[in-house]
Amino acid sequence: MNNPKICLCLTGATLAENLEMLNKYRKWIDMAELRVDYLSADESLHIRRFPEMAGIPMILTIRRVSDGGVFRGGEASRTTLFARGLAFAEQDVRKNFAFIDLEEDFIVPSLQDAALAFGTRIIRSYHCMDNTVIDIPIKMVSMRKTGYEIPKIACMPHHLSEVTRLFKESAVIDYDHILCAMGVLGLSTRILARKLGSFLTYCSPPNTESLSDKLGHIDPIMLNEMYNFRTIDDKTELFGVTGYPLTTSSSPRLHNDGYHKHGLNAVYIPIKAETIEETIDFAMQVGIKGISITVPHKETVVDKLQVVSEQIAEIRACNTILRTEQGWSGFNTDALGFKQSLLEFLNRENLSHKKVAIIGAGGVAKAVANAVHELHGNACIFNRTITTARNLAEIYGFKYAALGLATYNLLENYSWLIIQTTSVGMGWTKESKTEISDPLYFYNFHGQEQVYDIIYYPEKTPMMLRAEKAGCRTCNGYDMLKYQAYEQFELFTGVKYE
Ligand code: ATR
Repeated sequence: MNNPKICLCLTGATLAENLEMLNKYRKWIDMAELRVDYLSADESLHIRRFPEMAGIPMILTIRRVSDGGVFRGGEASRTTLFARGLAFAEQDVRKNFAFIDLEEDFIVPSLQDAALAFGTRIIRSYHCMDNTVIDIPIKMVSMRKTGYEIPKIACMPHHLSEVTRLFKESAVIDYDHILCAMGVLGLSTRILARKLGSFLTYCSPPNTESLSDKLGHIDPIMLNEMYNFRTIDDKTELFGVTGYPLTTSSSPRLHNDGYHKHGLNAVYIPIKAETIEETIDFAMQVGIKGISITVPHKETVVDKLQVVSEQIAEIRACNTILRTEQGWSGFNTDALGFKQSLLEFLNRENLSHKKVAIIGAGGVAKAVANAVHELHGNACIFNRTITTARNLAEIYGFKYAALGLATYNLLENYSWLIIQTTSVGMGWTKESKTEISDPLYFYNFHGQEQVYDIIYYPEKTPMMLRAEKAGCRTCNGYDMLKYQAYEQFELFTGVKYE
């Protein structure tokens, strides 16, 4: 099987701008698509020159609004523009457009005949901008009117299960085709285009916001350097991180850097999923061996495991699953990562006789409580929902309390070390308008508290900033993330990260 080609979408307003973009990314791409719908009216008169200027195979595309493009003229003017792009074909086919993208309902025999005569392959495309396509192989056959057309289906999934179906259905297609799922949910179809047998994968320069957000395009450097696109083959081991909404994750960078460093044929991808069941079905279909689990699946995943280690049975939260001969096996590297980074921060070997406040009682708090217990700390768990705090506290014989002004004195009493484990403050920026970005908004720091926030984005949460202002030492969750990832990396690959 040939590896899919990398095709850069050019959406500049001028040919010069597009050429500049193409030259910038030339080394990372195989071909490019000239999106004439983005060109200014004047510039679109000169598209015929572009393939020669580009010097790589070019697709000619003029996308209508209904198919996700920005062309607002009628079909007659689109036909004229297409004809302009094909006209005066050269003997040297490298000077002609190599491909022309014609939507499945845009049947213009004169354009098709011209394309055929000039050696320009037709990409026959179908865009389903607000849904997925059921029975892709049947749809593809109906679109492939002549043998030389490359059918293309791009659809918009709403759930990961729809992406899983894409991978499943693509297995029977044995001719040139292009298949992708748009949006963030479809990211895997861009990176693992080879698994879909897709002829190409589309990408866009970084910061092309409309294309990266709406269509889920990755930039060509990231595709090559982070996701190893060109070296993905049948032997590549696949891993990933799952969560919802999974907006910020440093895990793909950490793990993929590790594969590069150790020369491993592996790739690690983001897998956004509302439910853990969807993630597991996806992993089984695509052949993913190991998955990092993040918010909100750390607890629900435990019931899906076939092998439950003593550690998972105790913590009841899991951040790492691995496919073994006995089925999915679970681990918790959060506890270890947290312990290592906390001891570094405190410059201590244990928490003996120290009073510790744990804020929150969710999945991360479970790993934190386990670690604090192992380090012989004396903790009190403060949570918005008191029953959850109690359930966790009782496992380790810790105290528990409601989070709020009513328990101020108790918090003060346990404030030698304050460990913040909720997601409040995550993703906060100076411009954000969220009302609650500091879970301890009611608490006045004295300055001698040591404050550990498991959030690492932003680097300093509003709570940390407030604590620092009062004179406290603070630490964010980046080192925890790093150490838990190193441990996970070793579980996944059998190789030490550092
Ligand atoms: P994780 O797996 O990352 O710990 P989680 O299981 O969703 O995520 O846990 C979220 C924790 O943050 C919980 O302790 C939650 O409190 P509740 O048990 O009362 O839901 C806490 N949390 C979430 N939003 C909060 C808020 N606005 N104020 C205070 N605590 C909050």
